[in-house]
Amino acid sequence: MNQTAEQQRFLQDVIDGLSQPQPEIPSKYLYDELGSALFEAICVTPEYYITRCDIEIHQQHAAAISRFLGTHVHLIEFGSGAGIKTRLLLESLQQPQAYTPIEISAAALQAAADVLRYQFPHLLVQPLQADYTQPINLQALDICPRCRRRVVYFPGSTIGNFTHAEARGFLSRIHDICSAARDGVHAGLLIGFDLLKSTDIMIPAYADAAGVTAAFNKNLLARINRELGADFDLAQWHHEARFNPVEQRMESYLVSAVAQQVSIAGRRFAFATGDDIHTENSHKYTLADFEAMAAEAGLKLQQYWMDAKGWFVTAYFELK
Ligand code: AVI
Repeated sequence: MNQTAEQQRFLQDVIDGLSQPQPEIPSKYLYDELGSALFEAICVTPEYYITRCDIEIHQQHAAAISRFLGTHVHLIEFGSGAGIKTRLLLESLQQPQAYTPIEISAAALQAAADVLRYQFPHLLVQPLQADYTQPINLQALDICPRCRRRVVYFPGSTIGNFTHAEARGFLSRIHDICSAARDGVHAGLLIGFDLLKSTDIMIPAYADAAGVTAAFNKNLLARINRELGADFDLAQWHHEARFNPVEQRMESYLVSAVAQQVSIAGRRFAFATGDDIHTENSHKYTLADFEAMAAEAGLKLQQYWMDAKGWFVTAYFELK
């Protein structure tokens, strides 16, 4: 197979991950085209409450959020901004001036930017193609002389997919983005995160009855077969969602139903019945824990909004 650099990286990450005492595959590989479509399908399953709660907050608290952020906002979204939440937020803001989605996929970025330019003709939409898990070119964000507030926007609880160390690094890069705002411009972070709650609610959310999350997780093996020429037998693996009380996170696994061997690019991996591959973490926070983590990165909680059930939070932080 003639591999691109991206596929070589993918292969190396899979081989390294499966060679660990606890086999694992980085969760970013869940999101190929089919995986992204399956994630959208997860968001409308009855069990996966996160997206509904997040949208409810954007709808029910739109006026309060907008009052809090004030006029002439430059919204900087980590992610492509294709979703309903970005539209709801931009609709509720008073005279938003500029919008910068930051996303690694050029195609996703362009498509979302085109839609937003059409929906918000007065908004300066200036996408930035970059990996937001790495430091961002701060000069590229300096596009809005009329703006009074720079708001980094990260909805959807994606921060939950980062380890605590990654989340801390991420928050300190946000601190840098806020610190780089021009004199007299307020700057802050509007972020969504999922609250710790009963496993009776969390486990079904990550193992829906219709099997959409299972299909999403197993697509990772199908992708490895497709792109790396491996021979995972998908019928011999099943999805499992577990709560890890020490790390306070939901964890996704693919569990081997039989003793089997898998070959990937000439390497063979043996799995006994019940052996598993760890594929994703979704950390859950208390408000106090998240506030403390943000404080370590130099960010202070200003205000927060919750859905009616009190399951999910959208919070606004500024520099301490
Ligand atoms: C994208 N992210 C916030 C989702 C979550 O809840 O961790 C990904 C997901 N994986 C399985 N279900 C949803």
